[in-house]
Amino acid sequence: MEFDIAVLGGDGIGPEVTQQSVKVLKSVEGLFGHRFNIKEGDVGGASIDKHGTPVKAEVLDVAASADAVLFGAVGGPKWDDPSASMRPEEAILQLRAHLGVFANIRPVKVYPWLADSSVLKPSVTKDVDLVVIRELTGGLYYALPKGRTDTPQGLSAVDTMRYSEVEINRILRVGFELARSRQKKLASVDKANVLECSRLWRFLATQMSEDYPDVQLEHVLVDSCAMLLIQQPNRYDVIVAGNTFGDILSDEAAVLASSMGLLPSASLSDVPVAGRRIPGFYEPIHGTAPDIAGKGIANPIGSILSMAMMLRYSLSLTEEAASVERAVDRVLQDGYRTADVAVGGATTSTAEMGDQVVAALGSAG
Ligand code: IPM
Ligand code: MG
Repeated sequence: MEFDIAVLGGDGIGPEVTQQSVKVLKSVEGLFGHRFNIKEGDVGGASIDKHGTPVKAEVLDVAASADAVLFGAVGGPKWDDPSASMRPEEAILQLRAHLGVFANIRPVKVYPWLADSSVLKPSVTKDVDLVVIRELTGGLYYALPKGRTDTPQGLSAVDTMRYSEVEINRILRVGFELARSRQKKLASVDKANVLECSRLWRFLATQMSEDYPDVQLEHVLVDSCAMLLIQQPNRYDVIVAGNTFGDILSDEAAVLASSMGLLPSASLSDVPVAGRRIPGFYEPIHGTAPDIAGKGIANPIGSILSMAMMLRYSLSLTEEAASVERAVDRVLQDGYRTADVAVGGATTSTAEMGDQVVAALGSAG
């Protein structure tokens, strides 16, 4: 089969890790007889430097017309001046809004062979297998009014948290559906003891649970969830949260897997259903890591696994996706470690990690 894939590497380690995913994708192409037409574009700081904007309209269009988008990361100290008129992060916020990818899916799986790499006790992280679903195109990130004003009393700033019933229901639906396909446990995160948006969220979650009698729904306050996620991560199967809470909890959940460098994400514009192709946006959950950029030591696994999610959700290539995931598993099991997960001993470079995944993919057929 033939697919158009937009590849947007971005800044810092973004292009380095994305290059490895493309390498693995090319290997999938050869092994399974598909054709992936790669369309590259500038985003983030790289685009600000070249074109004076974090993302050109043309790149938004390339992304929207592709079957899927493989994204790296954007941002960095060079563009961090708080008084700058534009920020690299606007690229990602504009892409999410433009593509309408409201459902961000962040699976967290703990590999038994990486138990020693974690700062947490293996007894706590053992068998963790959960998914954080984050609402991605609403809430505090986008609602208006937003901005800074100068008042006689001094500077004042405002961000608005607003959620409509439609926005909440569609993300809850993704949560219930995914829970139904897994362990049938859904934790809905809110701050209903304080926030009006959260009270609406909780009301709608309770209402929707009537359609899913087989799914066990639990409401959990975000502060309590932050604690329980580290203390007893195994109690969770699927967690669904709004934009801001999901942003925070998904970074926290990444610690369970020992390194952010390992974790993938998919952002979709519809409820994923087996066998149905949904255009989507795929990115590792880590950022640009400017401190290690250009050194060839970044972990490409988060990006490679994001590419595997792309094969599954946007291209309906289930067997190919599973093969990539098994290859990553094999490489980690065989002891290859980038610096972020190495515990003493030799480390594997970014490019070599990609090569090892390609080799494992080839040898497994
Ligand atoms: C993420 C990031 C982004 C976000 C930033 C880079 C705008 O933290 O994808 O989690 O806050 O959504
Ligand atoms: Mg984040």
